[in-house]
Amino acid sequence: MQAIDARTLIARARDAARHSYSPYSGFPVGAALLCADGTVITGTNVENRSFGLANCAERSALFAAVSQGQSEFTAIAVACPRSDVPVSPCGACRQALSELCPPEMPVYFAGKTDSHVETSIGALLPNDSLHDLKDR
Ligand code: THU
Repeated sequence: MQAIDARTLIARARDAARHSYSPYSGFPVGAALLCADGTVITGTNVENRSFGLANCAERSALFAAVSQGQSEFTAIAVACPRSDVPVSPCGACRQALSELCPPEMPVYFAGKTDSHVETSIGALLPNDSLHDLKDR
């Protein structure tokens, strides 16, 4: 069920960024993950004074969703309200998302303006053996 459109999902991601704990980067990020049953699970980046422990908004949303019993995902939006340009998921988040989401799943990302980029999990992490080689 694709219950909500890209703009609505991005709005949910932008709203989630308000909860960001990002005193070290000053760069709040929000993510909104649409589940197959229509539920939207949001997440935000959570930083730490031990910098490497920062958790991105995308993984916060994904891990929260799995923790709440969700296992099928149909879209994700990422919003960076302080960025002049749309910011795409980092490499670690691409890997984490590709583990649990289908390659054709849409990914929307936006900065502070109304415009956004639309891509897919498979475009962000091509040739993931988990998907590409599973029927061989
Ligand atoms: N960040 C995310 O949460 N998601 C992204 O897609 C890009 C980066 C966070 C990590 C860190 O807390 C801050 O943004 C600056 O890199």
